[in-house]
Amino acid sequence: MVTFARRAQSQNDELTTILAGAPEGVLSLAGGFPNPATFPSELLDELMARVLRDEPGVALQYAPCEGIPSVREYLIERQERLHGRRPEREELIVTSGGMECIALACQSLIDPGDTVAVEAPTYLGALMAFDRYEAIVEGIDMDEDGLVVDALEERLEGGLRPKLLYVIPEYQNPTGRTLPLARREALVDLCRRHGVLILEDVAYREISFDGAAPPSLWSLGPDVVVQAGTFSKIFCPGVRMGWAAGPRDVIAQLAAAKQTTDQCSGGLGQKLVEAYGRAGHFERQVPASRELYASHWRALDRGLRAHMPDNVTWSEPLGGFFSWLTLPEGIDTIALRPLAIEAGVAYVPGAPFGGAPNELRVAFSYLGEPELESAASRLSSVVSSAV
Ligand SMILES: Cc1ncc(COP(=O)(O)O)c(C=O)c1O
Repeated sequence: MVTFARRAQSQNDELTTILAGAPEGVLSLAGGFPNPATFPSELLDELMARVLRDEPGVALQYAPCEGIPSVREYLIERQERLHGRRPEREELIVTSGGMECIALACQSLIDPGDTVAVEAPTYLGALMAFDRYEAIVEGIDMDEDGLVVDALEERLEGGLRPKLLYVIPEYQNPTGRTLPLARREALVDLCRRHGVLILEDVAYREISFDGAAPPSLWSLGPDVVVQAGTFSKIFCPGVRMGWAAGPRDVIAQLAAAKQTTDQCSGGLGQKLVEAYGRAGHFERQVPASRELYASHWRALDRGLRAHMPDNVTWSEPLGGFFSWLTLPEGIDTIALRPLAIEAGVAYVPGAPFGGAPNELRVAFSYLGEPELESAASRLSSVVSSAV
């Protein structure tokens, strides 16, 4: 009889359900999967051949824990271009996606019983990581403009002592909301005063629909912010590539923690991102991806406006993959889900993210535009019947 660790006993099946995909015939608004039309499949064919021909000894070998030097250098240059601040070499490492960054931060910073403050609601994967590291998670209120900084201030003044504040400042998963500049400045200032380290997750930052996102928290407070970045949404999740940028002592600990996860991010993926990036392909592909996702959002929004009952509201994202629906009080979106599946549409209920029972998340990234309109219509019928 196997005795599992205590941390293995809290199971959250929601992410497994999302990653498994929807049953045949069901239009899925559940998973935040990037659209395969944005994947650079043809270019990768050529880039992969070039990397394997020119640098097999680097791409196929173990790499330094912090990342292959030329890749790290490329990411440092990119960080300077995108955030207006050049990290020192010791302030940035390569990670195996954004999720690994969160796990490394947990491993480095969280003892059982430590408090992690999060936006309520927030990304399921992060909540699960905090849970696995036996943190006490404290949700801080959000409004249409993201985290309510005054609410956090009140909690801190009331004695809350988080080791970490986890924030997704733009196009948030699951709400789609974006924190305005004034709140970002206030947040950095508040956390600096209270000695709270911010873990900034910029997974969707580059997928803005119209204009750029406000300055990143890391650019405003590199002394109190660790930025977790990923290439999953602008390149492809299959390569599992990301970065961590932050104060050098924290980054050194994340690198040390990486020695017990994968030791190094895959060299082949690192060299592919570098080759793709240095050839200028992000500058060409990211705008095209932005346009695609903006157009997807308009299709879903059209469908919702045409069919949803009046007493249902939803967030209007300025980027990213998600919108957050609020149904009338008393409707339970977990109980409603089997009826939605029966009607041929899938979504994720709000509760697993730390949301209210009458809230739910829809993703508009994956389905095509006509399917998004049909999915909105199906979801609206189910909600209308429940109302
Ligand atoms: C907010 C957020 N952070 C991190 C991740 C994980 O990204 P990665 O594929 O790089 O691990 C996701 C993926 O959905 C996400 O939504």
